[in-house]
Amino acid sequence: MDRGQILRWLREQDQARLDELWNMADHVRRQKVGNEVHLRGLIEVSNICSRGCLYCNLNASNKSIERYRLSEEEIIECGNSAKKYGYNTLVLQSGEDKSIDPEWVSRIIRKLKEIGNFAITLSLGEWDQGVYKLWRDAGADRYLLRFETSDRELFDKIHPGSKVHRIELLEILKKLDYEVGSGVMVGIPGQSYESLADDIELFRTLDLHMIGLGPYVPDENTILGKNAAELMLSDQQVPADEITTYKAYALARIICPETNIPATTALATLNPVDGYEKALSRGANVVMPNVSPKKFRKLYSIYPKKVCVNECDSFHEEIHNRIKAIGRTVGQGRGSSVKYLKKHQENYV
Ligand code: 5AD
Repeated sequence: MDRGQILRWLREQDQARLDELWNMADHVRRQKVGNEVHLRGLIEVSNICSRGCLYCNLNASNKSIERYRLSEEEIIECGNSAKKYGYNTLVLQSGEDKSIDPEWVSRIIRKLKEIGNFAITLSLGEWDQGVYKLWRDAGADRYLLRFETSDRELFDKIHPGSKVHRIELLEILKKLDYEVGSGVMVGIPGQSYESLADDIELFRTLDLHMIGLGPYVPDENTILGKNAAELMLSDQQVPADEITTYKAYALARIICPETNIPATTALATLNPVDGYEKALSRGANVVMPNVSPKKFRKLYSIYPKKVCVNECDSFHEEIHNRIKAIGRTVGQGRGSSVKYLKKHQENYV
């Protein structure tokens, strides 16, 4: 699919044509990654953040939220619940908490690996190569770092004071042989259709193993939430809505057929009723249920009304049923991306 086609699909409004796009994406998904939906247990390790990202409610200047960092014991407990629910991957996510000792993370990775045959995904933000290597050596398997937008000017506006290039970090992670995930927010103020098409083309260039896509959810407590009008484009602005997010899922699947694509919490926040099902039928093949301790969930408030905050224990059973109800099966193994598995098989031959 070329750039012109990507742009046409992003702007497409006709329902019948969009059904074609959904079918195409679903067909590619079935052919390339099959019917399994992989479940990942998400642990929100810390909401402490040293960054000032304009769109995120966890940004350092927000003094109105109570900050927390889970203890080692609490994280191990989350690992035990994930094991109980049968999840084979744990995702450790955090704000950019620079008071985290990298060695502490390494110790936790090792301990979690002792309690189960988990794949460990880290989503702990920007660190240097030495730290990424330390964690890889400790056994971390995957790393998620969204580049958020490929438009450098927009990136700099919404990430004041940012010094590193995330694309370079993604290359470093790839060299360290992590399974590498990245992605963007759909509809961030200032994002044009051209810019979202660039993002999707960059997924292809980066040859990602995982692509995380969610709608931008405005938060009136953030700088961007208050001043969106200043960045919003008059005619080329991508809407932060459900349909456009599905378009991005479908295009990502068609363009990167063997990658893992989670149906994200941000999308389910826009459509709590059947957002997961729709995403899974339009390209996605992963869901990441929250296994964080309940008392901390409301504090990991990246954006308002996040669905998982009230997820109760029954959600873990419910998600199995919802997956089966759309004719899919729950993944049994670790659910590495087909792309990564193939590369490693090639190395063995
Ligand atoms: N709306 C949607 N997604 C957001 N994120 C941060 N703030 C928001 C928001 N207001 C996303 C970013 C980040 C991920 C962990 O959450 O893309 O990479």
